[in-house]
Amino acid sequence: MAKKSVLFSLSMTALIALPFASLMDFKAVDMETPFMTSSQECKECHAEIYKSWKNSMHAMSLDDPIFKSSYMQSYLNTKGDAKFNCLKCHAPMTLINNDYDLEMETTREGVTCYFCHSLKEVNLADRQAPFKFEKKGIKRASLSNVSSTAHGTEASALFKSSELCAGCHEYTNDKGTKILGTYSEWKEGPYPAEGKQCQDCHMPLVAGNVVKSKIESSGQKQINLHAISAGHSVEQLQKAVKVEIEEIVQSEDFLEVNVSVTNIGSGHKVPTGIPKRKLVLIVDVKTPNEYLSQHKEYTRMLEDEKGNKIEKECEVFMLAVKNSFDNRIGPRETRREIFPFVKPKNKKVTVSARVEYLYETTILNPVEMRVIMAEDSKIVSK
Ligand code: HEC
Ligand code: HEC
Ligand code: HEC
Ligand code: HEC
Ligand code: HEC
Repeated sequence: MAKKSVLFSLSMTALIALPFASLMDFKAVDMETPFMTSSQECKECHAEIYKSWKNSMHAMSLDDPIFKSSYMQSYLNTKGDAKFNCLKCHAPMTLINNDYDLEMETTREGVTCYFCHSLKEVNLADRQAPFKFEKKGIKRASLSNVSSTAHGTEASALFKSSELCAGCHEYTNDKGTKILGTYSEWKEGPYPAEGKQCQDCHMPLVAGNVVKSKIESSGQKQINLHAISAGHSVEQLQKAVKVEIEEIVQSEDFLEVNVSVTNIGSGHKVPTGIPKRKLVLIVDVKTPNEYLSQHKEYTRMLEDEKGNKIEKECEVFMLAVKNSFDNRIGPRETRREIFPFVKPKNKKVTVSARVEYLYETTILNPVEMRVIMAEDSKIVSK
């Protein structure tokens, strides 16, 4: 009985909170089960999953200050048209409710529960509208033989597959330029053949309750981590690459440092996603009184129609006509680099190599994020 009253109050608050016009839009979606769209309602039962999702970049996809400032600029540059572009991924509920002015709480939740769990199919060939929804209140994931009084359930293979993510993590703009290629980078690498999908690395199973213990359920004690983390997590970044000083060749006047960098843990190119990210391989040669340093960058560059390098995120999506440069490191790929140094005078030489992840962004003033991903060092002579 207690369960019923929870449901009743849930659906009532949802109804009252929605303006009439949006209700009409929703009618078209033809929901059968109680009217639930906000993560606040899912939270009533799926508390642990909610908590984890709330900390993810998906929950932040609209509030993230880097996105916000970039969206504002795009909006102004296009007299508002950018909303039809940016919001389909950053506030995907717009695809269901047409709320492009972000009037509804649910739309402002960004990549929210309801959106992912209402997906029936992702058709990448349909670039304008890859997502297909089921016009019923069924919630899909990969649990079979479960049921809920709040909504229908259905096990769907899509939820174990990278295709679910590809609708947003792969994007070619109207000018035919690939802007986001994370899915195709993965697809062309060794992981699909090993059955390793995005979820295996980004949503591992952890201990937890699928629903609050007082709610009737199959009593699963494991949940898929919804705090999908990556570039914003130092721990994830440190799984990605390995750096090794393979050989130091000495001659009379020179010291040649041979270094390898391997993408050991990233399922796609590293770095992936937004083109502004860089890996920097830094090699230092030190003695008690000398310090020499060299570096090499791995990144991607896009150009606009005039052949100018695009610096701002907001322009990347709208203006890029060409990928003019890309030396990022593919999954499991190793790069060998040679750094020639003039031999230091002092005999006590230490050579070290490290890889840093660098993300410079322009939220009003340029901001820089720098994380050491991997290190190696060797003493050359005593
Ligand atoms: C009144 C409680 C309740 C509410 C509210 C609720 N759920 Fe559920 N949900 C359940 C129960 C119970 C299960 C089955 C769990 C089990 O048996 O292990 C479930 C299962 C699921 C599944 C798994 C389906 C499958 O077959 O893999 C998904 C996905 C899901 N819920 C999503 C949502 C979303 C999204 C919301 C909010 C829009 C939501 N739920 C709101 C109780 C609830
Ligand atoms: C509806 C669109 C959409 C779908 C579907 C989607 N994502 Fe995302 N994802 C985004 C957006 C937008 C961001 C960027 C948020 C921001 O930084 O503003 C993001 C960010 C991320 C990040 C970056 C986190 C970080 O720390 O930088 C990872 C990793 C990620 N998503 C993985 C996944 C995986 C795995 C799936 C499939 C299970 C998936 N996404 C499905 C839109 C989506
Ligand atoms: C980016 C898409 C995405 C978002 C957003 C998302 N989920 Fe999930 N969810 C998944 C995927 C994918 C799985 C299945 C992972 C697997 O089986 O490998 C899943 C699994 C589940 C399950 C089944 C139990 C489990 O952990 O496997 C429930 C219940 C669930 N999600 C509820 C929610 C709720 C509630 C929210 C919001 C607070 C939410 N999800 C947000 C993609 C998403
Ligand atoms: C073998 C494990 C693995 C697989 C498979 C994998 N990733 Fe990743 N991913 C990582 C690691 C490690 C990082 C952090 C290093 C980096 O940025 O590449 C990462 C980073 C990311 C980022 C953040 C980029 C940034 O710099 O903030 C996104 C987005 C992402 N992955 C999405 C995906 C999607 C979508 C898929 C499936 C098509 C996927 N990943 C498959 C391991 C994996
Ligand atoms: C096809 C889906 C898609 C579209 C369309 C899209 N984005 Fe994104 N955006 C993403 C995904 C996915 C990420 C995150 C992860 C990554 O780097 O791969 C992201 C990341 C970003 C980031 C970096 C956020 C951070 O914290 O690092 C900015 C800024 C951004 N987008 C701005 C925009 C703007 C502005 C538009 C519209 C002109 C737009 N995006 C259109 C999917 C999209």
